[in-house]
Amino acid sequence: MNVREAVRHLSGELTSAGIVDSRLEASLIVSHVLKVDRGNLLLATDRVLMESELEAVFKCLRRRVLHEPLQYVFGEWPFLDLQLEVSPSALIPRPETEEWVDRLLETLIPKYLGANSIRWFADIGAGTGAIGLALANGLPLSCGLLCDISPEAVTLAQRNLARHPAAASRLSLILGDLTLSLHDSAFDLVASNPPYIKSADMPGLMPEVRDHEPRMALDGGKFGTSIIARLLADLGRVLRPGGLAAFEHGDGQRPSILALPAPGLSLLEAGNDACGRERFLVWVKR
Ligand SMILES: C[S@@+](CC[C@H](N)C(=O)[O-])C[C@H]1O[C@@H](n2cnc3c(N)ncnc32)[C@H](O)[C@@H]1O
Repeated sequence: MNVREAVRHLSGELTSAGIVDSRLEASLIVSHVLKVDRGNLLLATDRVLMESELEAVFKCLRRRVLHEPLQYVFGEWPFLDLQLEVSPSALIPRPETEEWVDRLLETLIPKYLGANSIRWFADIGAGTGAIGLALANGLPLSCGLLCDISPEAVTLAQRNLARHPAAASRLSLILGDLTLSLHDSAFDLVASNPPYIKSADMPGLMPEVRDHEPRMALDGGKFGTSIIARLLADLGRVLRPGGLAAFEHGDGQRPSILALPAPGLSLLEAGNDACGRERFLVWVKR
């Protein structure tokens, strides 16, 4: 079987399994196994796959038709300029998170703080470590504390820190409950992508998310904002005056979040994602 035939075959199998972007995913699987990017794959459509390569392709296919996320099948996925290990121990880092973290680094931090003014930052609910590692890369004079309540996520983040030793040399990773173990007025920046899906919406999620990603990373309680409410209640304590808090939230949650008590904080920015959905909020400690 050559590359063209393999992509066509996989695409058909994925379509039958109800996978929407079947052709794209088929070519991603073949690219992954052959270790070439998709552009180069298109230049090699007559290349015949070796027995071991075909076996690897079909192994990926067998997992993907069961709706296991492609990212878990591959075991790694990019976040900004980082290549991260991903596994069911933690949420797969999302492009919409990349987007606001990039905006934080490129626009919001320079505008409100000055790029070199951040000494200490925290990433609360670190998961794979994506946000903390990206902040450490983008803020080379800073040190960061990454915190997650899931032991499995902390173990995975530890491995991702080991993959990026230069950034990791300025990072600490702890197992903990939100900001509870953080010192008063210690941080210039606290970033978080907390769980924010309403508990009642969990059963209706795509099987890739509902059946494979950790519930603890997704379920934000009855209104989806219970973790956000806890964060907002304590962020004013852990930020130094003038420090920033930035966190992701779900579309449609903004009015209810803005009605929550946020002692010591004032809203600076409310940002949408590239699809125009409400996505993140930035606060300053007065
Ligand atoms: C939406 S995921 C975000 C993961 C990662 N930061 C990212 O953006 O890909 C939320 C994370 O918060 C963690 N989490 C949930 N409740 C927490 C709590 N009370 N304290 C600390 N972390 C918590 C989950 O284990 C999960 O890793």
